[in-house]
Amino acid sequence: MQKRPVLVLNFGSQYVQLIARRIRELGVYSEIISPKTPAQEIKKKNPYGIILSGGPASVYKQGAPLPDRGIYELGVPILGICYGLQVIAHQLGGKVAKSEKQEYGRARLRIIRDDVIFEGIPKESDVWMSHADKVVKPPPGFVPLAVSENSPYAVIADTKRKIYGFQFHPEVTHTVFGKEMLANFVYGVCRAERNWEMGDFIREKIEEIRQQVGDAHVIAALSGGVDSTVAAVLTHRAIGERLHCFFIDHGLLREGEREEVERNLRALGLPLKVVDASEIFLERLKGVVDPEEKRRIIGRTFVEVFEKEAKKIEGARFLLQGTLYPDVVESAGIEGSAKIKTHHNVGGLPERMNLKLLEPFRELFKDEVRQLGKLLGIPEHILKRHPFPGPGLAIRIIGEVNEKDLATLRRADAIFIEELKKEGLYDRVWQAFAVLLPVRSVGVMGDVRTYEKVIALRAVESTDGMTADWYRLPYDFLDRVMRRIINEVEGVNRVVYDISSKPPSTIEWE
Ligand code: XMP
Repeated sequence: MQKRPVLVLNFGSQYVQLIARRIRELGVYSEIISPKTPAQEIKKKNPYGIILSGGPASVYKQGAPLPDRGIYELGVPILGICYGLQVIAHQLGGKVAKSEKQEYGRARLRIIRDDVIFEGIPKESDVWMSHADKVVKPPPGFVPLAVSENSPYAVIADTKRKIYGFQFHPEVTHTVFGKEMLANFVYGVCRAERNWEMGDFIREKIEEIRQQVGDAHVIAALSGGVDSTVAAVLTHRAIGERLHCFFIDHGLLREGEREEVERNLRALGLPLKVVDASEIFLERLKGVVDPEEKRRIIGRTFVEVFEKEAKKIEGARFLLQGTLYPDVVESAGIEGSAKIKTHHNVGGLPERMNLKLLEPFRELFKDEVRQLGKLLGIPEHILKRHPFPGPGLAIRIIGEVNEKDLATLRRADAIFIEELKKEGLYDRVWQAFAVLLPVRSVGVMGDVRTYEKVIALRAVESTDGMTADWYRLPYDFLDRVMRRIINEVEGVNRVVYDISSKPPSTIEWE
């Protein structure tokens, strides 16, 4: 069903888009239409209200754009902004003339009559004016509600018919209480109901991506995680097969992860190439113990592998990234995980390949991306996946990484996650995983002495990963996980639970 809009009649103001956006920000659908739209067409859209935008023309001059007079008979609330106010005055029997003193820029608005349009707004505030004409005589039935130094009719209204006119621009931020006035019009006068949200953001973003990308191609490295998956699905909707997704298996993934991610991404219809580069990663990690060195090697190798693939795509001019608002804010100089992420994901590739970044979620938060993903039809189990670090299991095997330890860690981690899901705890913790320690300890199994490695379990609660606290998992649950790991995973004879918070510890061990 078509949403009930607040219609904006476009008389050519540079702020038309801004008016519609402000209304949507208030949670009500808004549409920009031609000023010549017949009143009957407008009626069919069943609008909550009509806004007449500003514009460069003069109402008293030949050929000035004017709306169908029938709009005043629809019983729909009307707000005229600047030129829109003059249109109302002109058409309803008032008088508009050239202003001797043109008013541009900041002006002081003084409310002289209380009205719902001014609810919660101080008697005096700054507004933004930009006009050469002004109302010299309001139409019959209209009274002034507010004045400025140069305009005795800065706000006029026929409150019975719910027709308002502002000489200034409430949509620009310089009008300090502009948003409140628009909200008062939309909710107080028009009695609109909230009907605009994330689903509409999708349509807007798709259009924006199309415009930005033009006929170029876009490449993306997907991890199977929430942000990159949602970004890819949205971009795929916008430009179809000109999006090229890569999933690079660096050999440091969790049990069954490559298959699972591949299955998930393909089920979403994404054009995907899976690149198995595990050999080269593991080769380069041989003998490396230092965590920072591991990260550097993995980051560099990742970019190398990705670049080789990306170069094969003709016309690739953009790199898609699921960058979130907190990443944008945080990577602006603050040390922390966001910076680590950025480094890992791009690592100088855009500069080297002369790629522009496509970041459709720069203004969103993680919960909004999840919401968006839901609306795009992405299954819950993908949207609720715990974060997983770019360097993968390499930073969860303390010390040197090798195939044998990877296999051990994968199994232990899979048991832990499986039990969390079975117990309904997976969605309650923010992130959970197993870590393989290089320490050996003595044990006894079936009367035989063992001397094996230690698995540490980590489960944390957090909101953004910047700070975290250990999750109070029930003892019985931990007991069950410990039993399964020691019985089922070869090479492990001890399980410990990490009770450190961040800070002073970090979430990952390396
Ligand atoms: P730390 O260990 O810094 O982790 O407390 C905070 C969050 O960031 C994740 N993390 C990474 N994510 N690339 C990523 O994409 C990385 O290099 C990286 N290092 C840590 C970590 O899993 C946790 O969610």
